[in-house]
Amino acid sequence: MTTPERSTAERTGIVVLVSGSGTNLQALIDAAADPAYGVRIVAVGADRAGITGLHRAAAAGIPTFVCRVQDHEDRAAWDAELARRIGDHEPAFVVSAGFMKLLGPQVLSRWVVLNTHPALLPLFPGAHAVRDALAAGATETGCTVHVVDSGVDTGPVLAQATVPVLEGDTEEALHERIKAVEHPLLVEYVGRAAREGITVTDGKASIP
Ligand code: GRF
Repeated sequence: MTTPERSTAERTGIVVLVSGSGTNLQALIDAAADPAYGVRIVAVGADRAGITGLHRAAAAGIPTFVCRVQDHEDRAAWDAELARRIGDHEPAFVVSAGFMKLLGPQVLSRWVVLNTHPALLPLFPGAHAVRDALAAGATETGCTVHVVDSGVDTGPVLAQATVPVLEGDTEEALHERIKAVEHPLLVEYVGRAAREGITVTDGKASIP
């Protein structure tokens, strides 16, 4: 059986936000090469210049923009400008893939934002989730795809995958094994949200 071709018009436009190496972004770029995936990455935004994530986007011919906190009077002005830059590309929703800034109300009130986090939320929220899981002596950890709310990694969970912590694990080695399960999980849920739609009601996220 063949999958019917999807035209560009049928693909759901998303903006992906990154701050670093962009391996999750690359997984989305690779998936979106197949029209049947139903996603078009209309832009990649970053909070800093010169990062590998932006190079990955440029190499794939995806428009990029940089919106740095330090170029704005305060966080509120940055939030408004980030919302404006995202809005220029009219995405259906936004994906935060290793974006290391807390999003503000201007962005969060306009779009559903999916985030991927390298721990089994609500365990180990924050910027050092892999290090914190190791320090706590966890025997397993993993990753979470969730909808962003105004808290720090507190929004409704869509999916999780577990990864065992091995004896002698370093933060780098464990994070690499987490990324190996994180990439397909993010790809699956971004694709489903694009093809089937995603709703957030009373703090619960669902894809029909
Ligand atoms: C991912 O593990 C993500 O969960 C975390 O930061 C990492 C980003 O990796 N927030 P990359 O930039 O996608 O390679």
